[in-house]
Amino acid sequence: MSAMSSLLSSSVPCEADSAQQKAYVTYSFPGRSTGDSTCHDWSVTLLEARAVISSCGTTGLRTWEAALLLGSYFAASSGRSSIRGKRMFELGAGTGMLSILCAKHLGIDGIVATDGDEAVVDTIKTNCFLNGLDVDDASRGAVRTAALKWGRPIDATTFQEDYGMGAPDIVVGADVTYDKSVIPRLVATLSGFFELNATLQVLISATIRNEQTFEAFLGACGRNGFTIAQVDFPAVPEDQQKGPFYRTTSPIQIWRITKGSGAKDSSAV
Ligand SMILES: C[S@@+](CC[C@H](N)C(=O)[O-])C[C@H]1O[C@@H](n2cnc3c(N)ncnc32)[C@H](O)[C@@H]1O
Repeated sequence: MSAMSSLLSSSVPCEADSAQQKAYVTYSFPGRSTGDSTCHDWSVTLLEARAVISSCGTTGLRTWEAALLLGSYFAASSGRSSIRGKRMFELGAGTGMLSILCAKHLGIDGIVATDGDEAVVDTIKTNCFLNGLDVDDASRGAVRTAALKWGRPIDATTFQEDYGMGAPDIVVGADVTYDKSVIPRLVATLSGFFELNATLQVLISATIRNEQTFEAFLGACGRNGFTIAQVDFPAVPEDQQKGPFYRTTSPIQIWRITKGSGAKDSSAV
């Protein structure tokens, strides 16, 4: 009663202010383990903002729909087998949800979560601690974090030293293709990673808010000699979702990018 009366007597913050405040959010990825019928409910708890763009101007303080779709793909058996035991590198990681899911539940060998915004990288560290993960140390299962702005050269000679991990097998990015002006820099960064490892696979999950912007990304990939294939893992309609829950108002697609003829993908369409 006393808690209720203090809540009733406190003033309600305006919508704009409350959208900037951070809250704990738990994303659940329910499913069945491979090889047996054991049910699992992998979850990741994050401290994040509701605002689409935070007051400091970044879009990285909340988790976006494209990350939830890519997380669902990794948690499903087809995606899980493709990342288990691999080294992963995340671009524009935002809250770090994907990297944390992979480190906490999906048996990744090593992971580096990066973002161009230093404040966002700090929130990834906080979110790792919330999930009981070590940060920036050499232990297995730890998440390494770093500030990485797209377009800056990737130095092969210092990569291990810079990121505490060898060249990645997989580079991922969710909702990183929304701004036409930064697409050339994003694609230049992908090129840098292909120079480190020619058999690299890149998985980009994109919310298609503007078709021209996404076509600009696909066009830049084509001009750089990348092979692009859409992964057959559609978003679940909102009324059928069992978690994680996300809006499907705009189409969300996962694309696999390889260099040259690239690796064959049976799930590509
Ligand atoms: C829409 S958010 C997506 C965050 C997260 N991947 C997700 O889906 O929840 C885009 C992220 O890309 C980062 N970003 C934008 N431009 C960047 C750049 N030029 N270099 C590095 N990161 C950038 C932002 O800081 C932000 O965290």
